[in-house]
Amino acid sequence: MSTKPINITMKAIILSGGKGTRLRPLTYTGAKQLVPVANKPILWYGIESIVAAGITEIGIIISPETGGEVQSKTGNGDRFGAKITYIRQDEPLGLAHAVKVAQPFLGDAPFVMYLGDNLVQSELDLFIDKFKSKHLDALTLLCEVENPSAFGVARVDETGKVLQLIEKPQNPPSNLALVGVYLFSPAIHQAIANIQPSPRGELEITDAIQYLIDQQQSVASFRLQGWWLDTGKKDDLLAANQIILDTCLESTHEGTIDEASKISGRVHVGQGSQITNSMIRGPVTIGKNCKIQNCFIGPYSSIADDTTLIDIDIEHSVILKGATLEGISARIVDSLIGERAHLKVAPQRPKALRFMIGDDSQIELT
Ligand code: G1P
Repeated sequence: MSTKPINITMKAIILSGGKGTRLRPLTYTGAKQLVPVANKPILWYGIESIVAAGITEIGIIISPETGGEVQSKTGNGDRFGAKITYIRQDEPLGLAHAVKVAQPFLGDAPFVMYLGDNLVQSELDLFIDKFKSKHLDALTLLCEVENPSAFGVARVDETGKVLQLIEKPQNPPSNLALVGVYLFSPAIHQAIANIQPSPRGELEITDAIQYLIDQQQSVASFRLQGWWLDTGKKDDLLAANQIILDTCLESTHEGTIDEASKISGRVHVGQGSQITNSMIRGPVTIGKNCKIQNCFIGPYSSIADDTTLIDIDIEHSVILKGATLEGISARIVDSLIGERAHLKVAPQRPKALRFMIGDDSQIELT
């Protein structure tokens, strides 16, 4: 029996649970998918890309720990032109387990599964067209990486047909990593019902796709040409911030910029922000209601709403909402500073340093 529906509308699920251990301490208090890239939560890029491909029924899988925050910030989908349903996964038992939990929402529809901490440059239409025209049961996206052991890895033949998938192999058979965007027919549900938890105790989507391959069902791959970023770690997040600012930022000055300040390149200044006696060299995005005084803000910086920067020199960094930084004479680079963090140095050389630093914080005075 064919499991491939021809005319059923595609749906999408976005996985937004997990513990975000690699982005601690930020993720002690918030979801990793809500950490902003160019002042917009990572998760929202995925939603926008799905809606741009014409899919408007979206299920977001949330965890009990961070689900409330994801739901209250993201809303019912109106702002994206979508209908969002929140689906709770009580325990992080794997990507295939998340699909299982979402099965009542998905019904018989073919669907896109998008990992909420992934950013993909290419438009989804390309993959959806291939999936539909070839009547596939699974389409995986692959991207060449330098460290395949950190991902699911594919072995493919010369036509792109997937022969084997292995989750985080010690000896990877190729450098082709599985990107966190997948397309499935409802055949995946039966595959998931037939797999067992992996040694790390999770129902792996990689194993479910391997089951489809073993059953001779049609699984193909698509080689990504553009960039793909898995934003799970600080440096990946800074890289994502750089790429998004490079490619998507528009120059708009909605705040107040005094005459002593100099702005060059593409710079966004949000409503209610005040820039005084500062130099800003884009691409830089500054949110709403920020106070920037006597600062240099260099390329690839994203400063979120309600931030205060006084006597600061910073570049290639991401500062989250409500942080205050004052009087630091050395340049701040490659930094990720959490919500409401407070960093202040006395005008003269400090005689003492007074800290209250969260678990897993990293501070380098070099
Ligand atoms: C998951 C998948 C892996 C894939 C990766 C992409 O890994 O299991 O196959 O390559 O996402 O981001 P995780 O992020 O859960 O370690």
